[in-house]
Amino acid sequence: MTYKFILFEKIDKVGLITLHRPEVLNALGESLIDELGTALKDCENDSDIHCMVLMGSEKAFAAGADIKEMQAKIYSEAYLEDFITKGWEKVSACRKPIIAAVSGYALGGGCEIAMMCDLIIAAESAKFGQPEVTIGILPGAGGTQRLTRAIGKSKAMDLCLTGRLMEAQEAERAGLVARIVPDNKLKEEAFAVAHKIASYSLPVVMMIKESVNRAFEVPLSEGLRFERRLFQASFSLDDQKEGMAAFLEKRTPKFKGK
Ligand code: CAA
Repeated sequence: MTYKFILFEKIDKVGLITLHRPEVLNALGESLIDELGTALKDCENDSDIHCMVLMGSEKAFAAGADIKEMQAKIYSEAYLEDFITKGWEKVSACRKPIIAAVSGYALGGGCEIAMMCDLIIAAESAKFGQPEVTIGILPGAGGTQRLTRAIGKSKAMDLCLTGRLMEAQEAERAGLVARIVPDNKLKEEAFAVAHKIASYSLPVVMMIKESVNRAFEVPLSEGLRFERRLFQASFSLDDQKEGMAAFLEKRTPKFKGK
């Protein structure tokens, strides 16, 4: 598959997707989003790939949905084509873990795509924001929902209502970002995390992702029940026998992904 707006590379068990529209700071146009969805689906279908890293350029992870593409859109079009749903939801629907490696601007849809990933590793230069209010709209790909769950109501209101940007340090303190790394180490560190995740049992990793995400959908009692069922199911895996045997025999486990 050849892409126009993204770059794709497979490195061991990790799929690296790089957003690549440098002239518009990786503005998320429809074609780019389609390509991103296709690349993620391909990664999901590739049993050799266990984890993905999604990154942009040094200056911008992504500066939001493409304003030029959106400017003339009218309500009936937006409604009929279910604007911002098609394509975008493929990121949150992906069952394998995705690490967002964010450098520079992650604004509007850029911040929202990063939040659809499973964890965010930020370069010191990263800046997050939902500046939609400044252009006469509101966040439309989960900004008011995922940001609020990640950093709480007051800070989410602050960002969404004022459109101000949040630096990496503040984003980490607020719980949006898992780790901050020096700018020139972003790719290396994101890969180290991805390779670590990819070294474990794929079904277990996928169950963990599913179970953590369940916490956002259901009450605690149901979430705990869901986790318990998956925990019990993990005892059906060869990888559970292997993982525990390796611990007891003081050796490195050899997971087979089944
Ligand atoms: N859409 C389309 N083009 C964009 C863009 C976007 N979201 N962001 C930047 N660009 C373009 C600029 O128009 C400019 O193009 P030209 O060279 O042809 O003029 C180019 O990228 C470089 O941008 P700037 O010259 O503005 O660069 P800067 O360093 O001065 O500023 C910035 C960087 C602060 C990120 C600024 O570009 C900016 O504010 N961008 C828009 C941010 C924004 O409002 N994002 C939200 C979009 S709406 C959305 O995402 C909805 C949703 O919920 C899904």
